[in-house]
Amino acid sequence: MTPPKHPFRSRRALVTGASGGIGEAIAVGLARAGSDVVLVARSADALEAVAARIRRDHRVRAEVVVADLATDAGVDHVIDTMRGTRVDILVANAGVAAMGDFVDATDERNRTQIALNTTALTRMVHAFLPAMLERRVGGVMTIASTASFQPTPGMAVYGATKAFVLSFTEAVWQETLGSGVRVLALCPGPTETGFFDAAGGGDVMTSGRQTADQVAAVGLHAFARAGGPTVVSGLGNTVIANAHRFVPRALMARLSAKVTAEH
Ligand SMILES: NC(=O)c1ccc[n+]([C@@H]2O[C@H](COP(=O)([O-])OP(=O)(O)OC[C@H]3O[C@@H](n4cnc5c(N)ncnc54)[C@H](OP(=O)(O)O)[C@@H]3O)[C@@H](O)[C@H]2O)c1
Repeated sequence: MTPPKHPFRSRRALVTGASGGIGEAIAVGLARAGSDVVLVARSADALEAVAARIRRDHRVRAEVVVADLATDAGVDHVIDTMRGTRVDILVANAGVAAMGDFVDATDERNRTQIALNTTALTRMVHAFLPAMLERRVGGVMTIASTASFQPTPGMAVYGATKAFVLSFTEAVWQETLGSGVRVLALCPGPTETGFFDAAGGGDVMTSGRQTADQVAAVGLHAFARAGGPTVVSGLGNTVIANAHRFVPRALMARLSAKVTAEH
């Protein structure tokens, strides 16, 4: 069989957090490039609406799996549902933050961020990567953040989970180099989605936000190129993400605190 020329044509992609925001934009981008998509999130109606639009506009298959990935049972459900079926591409995008000082955070919000942003992501990659490696096809895109590169006072747990995502993804990129399987951490900066409202900080980091479509386009372009392990979306964000190389750690934490409190 001749392999498809475009890396996303006739593939089957599973996208978590696809009911809105960056996940929806990536799912639409993959569908536009010819991938069938499996959309995962908690909100059944929103997922069905995205799936219907994708089927109508792009003539690919779009399936929906409703699951709360902050729970082990939710992750089990997705893995069980996909068992015996082909998943060429995994986009581990679902993630949440909580704004505010760490001492004021509830135990539940801390656990949810860690469970969704790190545990679910790790389990999904662990479940789907081996078959990709066996077939030497497809790949994994994780969604890290510019928050991955330095501590984020005011979002302490969130920044730590995103540091995990970046470190984990870059390590797996190296481990799978030359395998034919792509691995990429997409690092957006502040992006206009439901993210900040859900985090309880809708009015912070409002200036210069990118759109979800811009972020998805950067991620999919880098994923198609299969170059380095990481891409930061936007020039300004790339500068910010690299600042830690030149700034002492204490100063970096202070500067970062200003950014997360910025209106
Ligand atoms: N927006 C930004 O400024 C920004 C910047 C850097 C990185 N990021 C990262 O980008 C990714 C996508 O965020 P976004 O900006 O697109 O936010 P968003 O618009 O709030 O979308 C989050 C997605 O995750 C899903 N989700 C939330 N909790 C879930 C759970 N427990 N189980 C399953 N799905 C869940 C949501 O759907 P349901 O509510 O239907 O479950 C939604 O589809 C996240 O990993 C985020 O950390 C965002």
